[in-house]
Amino acid sequence: RKYTVPYEELGAEKLSELIHAFYKRVAQHPDLIPIFPKDLTETIRKQIQFQTQYLGGPNLFTEEHGHPMMRARHMNFPITPDRAQAWLECMAEAMDEVGLEGKFRETYYQRLVLTAHHMVNTPNDDE
Ligand code: HEM
Repeated sequence: RKYTVPYEELGAEKLSELIHAFYKRVAQHPDLIPIFPKDLTETIRKQIQFQTQYLGGPNLFTEEHGHPMMRARHMNFPITPDRAQAWLECMAEAMDEVGLEGKFRETYYQRLVLTAHHMVNTPNDDE
């Protein structure tokens, strides 16, 4: 069987739906609101670019913004273990909303778990 990259399996339209569903939840999450901009339009646009290349599609993020260096780009924000968990919960719920399931969802989500944990740069308040 011909190999298709995850980006092609998901499709640009579904990816856009997923990222919009995700930031709708980020915008309502008490632990995430304080560190995100009020207007998430540009954040959504960049995240769609990034996820496109993360899933093996065209390198849209790098073409416009340069090397991803994701951990470095997050250093301006206090990313605690609790916030990583909140981020992942928003993503899991967004995946439910847009109907991602099965092996594709499991693989994609597990990769995001690793990346989210890699972003942590600050201890929780109570630690
Ligand atoms: C940007 C938080 C994990 C990808 C941001 C911004 C915040 C943030 C506050 C800045 C938003 C803005 O100014 O527009 C978090 C938190 C995470 C997390 C709390 C929890 C672990 C991740 C993960 C990925 C990711 C796992 C990728 C798989 C991005 C991208 C940007 C971004 C692509 C835009 C970077 C840019 O402005 O050039 N994140 N993030 N983030 N995040 Fe995260």
